[in-house]
Amino acid sequence: MNLAPLGRTAGPSTTLRLLDRGCATGTPVGLAEHLLRHGPAPRPGTRLVETVEEAGLTGRGGAGFPTARKLRAVAAGRRRAVVVANGMESEPLSQKDRTLLATVPHLVLDGAVLAAEAVGADRIHLCLPRSRPVLLRALADAVEERRRAGVDSVPIRVEALPHGYVTSESTALVHWLDGGPARPTGARPRTHEKGVHGRPTLVQNVETLAHLALIARYGADRFRRAGTTASPGSMLVTVAGAVREPGVLEIEPGTPIGTVLAQAGGPDQPLQAVLLGGFAGTWLTTPDALRLPFSREGLAPCAAPGAGVIAALPHDACPLAETARILAYLAANGARQCGPCTFGLPAVADDFTALADGRPTPGLVDRLHRRVGLLPGRGACHHPDGAARLAAGALTAFPTDVDHHLHQGHCRRPAVLPVPPATPTECWT
Ligand SMILES: Cc1cc2nc3c(=O)[nH]c(=O)nc-3n(C[C@H](O)[C@H](O)[C@H](O)COP(=O)(O)O)c2cc1C
Ligand code: SF4
Repeated sequence: MNLAPLGRTAGPSTTLRLLDRGCATGTPVGLAEHLLRHGPAPRPGTRLVETVEEAGLTGRGGAGFPTARKLRAVAAGRRRAVVVANGMESEPLSQKDRTLLATVPHLVLDGAVLAAEAVGADRIHLCLPRSRPVLLRALADAVEERRRAGVDSVPIRVEALPHGYVTSESTALVHWLDGGPARPTGARPRTHEKGVHGRPTLVQNVETLAHLALIARYGADRFRRAGTTASPGSMLVTVAGAVREPGVLEIEPGTPIGTVLAQAGGPDQPLQAVLLGGFAGTWLTTPDALRLPFSREGLAPCAAPGAGVIAALPHDACPLAETARILAYLAANGARQCGPCTFGLPAVADDFTALADGRPTPGLVDRLHRRVGLLPGRGACHHPDGAARLAAGALTAFPTDVDHHLHQGHCRRPAVLPVPPATPTECWT
């Protein structure tokens, strides 16, 4: 999939933007230019947590947790805190974090330092996947530029982690930073109480940190000028699949899905469905889905924006075959430490492949429904929950296709979505 031109935005220009028009060259904004645009970051001691609370910033890494609550919880810890900036972006359909980091690295780094000052942290780990060496180099250079300029009160370390679907989960990051394999641990107490080296740890997505940097400079009101009351601010989305210009857009939450697709050049052929949220997301059929506002509250209770992914499925694709390929990838990429990842998820993926291939065994669909119902909430992390959501959503959204595959076999339509091969995560250390 090609990256769209950077900085394509929608909505009024008076709102706060991560990727403004000046970013459209696609080259990173260096420190001098960054300071010229935004001025220096505010001094420590300003009411950052209160301002972030007033702004209503929520996490952009998938779960949409209120950022101010996390800042407060970490700041309340008794030991010195640690900040972890999550730039792993393991969702294969997402490109927003790498686009942001490659374009406005200093906005993310400002956000990490401001967050560290707010929670009393003495170190920042910026976690990036080892598989993206160009991005790693660029961020190492940006951190070095800041060190030489002496702009940061808290040191930043760029960390190169093994790349896999679950190596980016917050407890996996902490486990790796503590010297272990990057496998989720589901450890209790939670990361904000006891994370890296047992210290209170703030794990925050890099887009969340970039928003925080803008809020700290320009205030809550400017942030709230975009989006909705419940989902304020702008958000980065990645549009994939059957559109003319797939790539990263900055939108206002609440924009109808059809409008977002139009901003990505519009569908390049008639659509039958959209996959919202990424591989751990939900299928909704068109045309109804196109009218839905792309925001947490606008999609509830049937779907969620996740990490801001919209994948458009053309009419001539097979939704069951696409789902089967994604499930096989998710099953291969579990850490296989808990029951649902070791047994449940591979069994669901195998049954779904049998369905998509038109090789039904007796009781296949009932078994799928039962197993999918058993997966959520049973792993140490939410990985199986996302896979269950995808499988259950596909069975509900495409009953005619299920029927066709059960009674008439494989439909032999071409694969469309860019799903990586279902090979297990190679390395955890
Ligand atoms: C399987 C799995 C994979 C995840 N991958 C990412 C990721 O690539 N990037 C990310 O920011 N958060 C990811 N998360 C969420 C993180 O655990 C964590 O909640 C997030 O980084 C918190 O940041 P936020 O509050 O700013 O969204 C993942 C969660 C799960 C369960
Ligand atoms: S549910 Fe899967 S990915 Fe999550 S901790 Fe357990 S084995 Fe690992």
